[in-house]
Amino acid sequence: MGPGMRGHGMMMGSSMQRHRQAMMGGVPKAYQGLSNPLSPDGRMVSEGKVLYQANCAACHGDTGAGDGPAAAGMSPPPANLQWLASRPMASDGYLMWAISEGGAELGTAMPAFKNSLSENQRWKVIRYLEALP
Ligand code: HEC
Repeated sequence: MGPGMRGHGMMMGSSMQRHRQAMMGGVPKAYQGLSNPLSPDGRMVSEGKVLYQANCAACHGDTGAGDGPAAAGMSPPPANLQWLASRPMASDGYLMWAISEGGAELGTAMPAFKNSLSENQRWKVIRYLEALP
């Protein structure tokens, strides 16, 4: 268990499969070491929020707590993104990997967004996630 796993548990609606994969195998090469090219300013955050509300809130909830209307009965549940965003493991590369590739490889319901959102849009959403309370 690394420092990123402290306080980890299903109670928090976190993503065991994904965290295990990242700890054991690392983030896939194509996403390693990426860094968000967008500045963390208010405009990026609010554009990210619009994208989040349209694409993510149904599952992850309005405030990222993992409690959206579509979350009921989902196993594993949509992750608590408020909790995640403050973890050391939530690097730009990690978040970009999760959002771009989704959970197909892990057997989860997290959709892949690499074909439905541009790279720029995915970085905006990440700026919004980082700004979650
Ligand atoms: C259909 C429901 C659904 C939608 C829509 C959805 N997600 Fe997810 N998401 C999940 C589930 C379920 C998980 C947990 C399993 C996993 O990590 O694959 C997850 C996991 C994640 C993770 C990894 C969390 C962690 O703890 O490692 C991130 C980041 C994430 N989602 C971001 C997003 C963003 C951003 C959007 C919108 C662009 C989005 N999700 C849309 C269901 C959804």
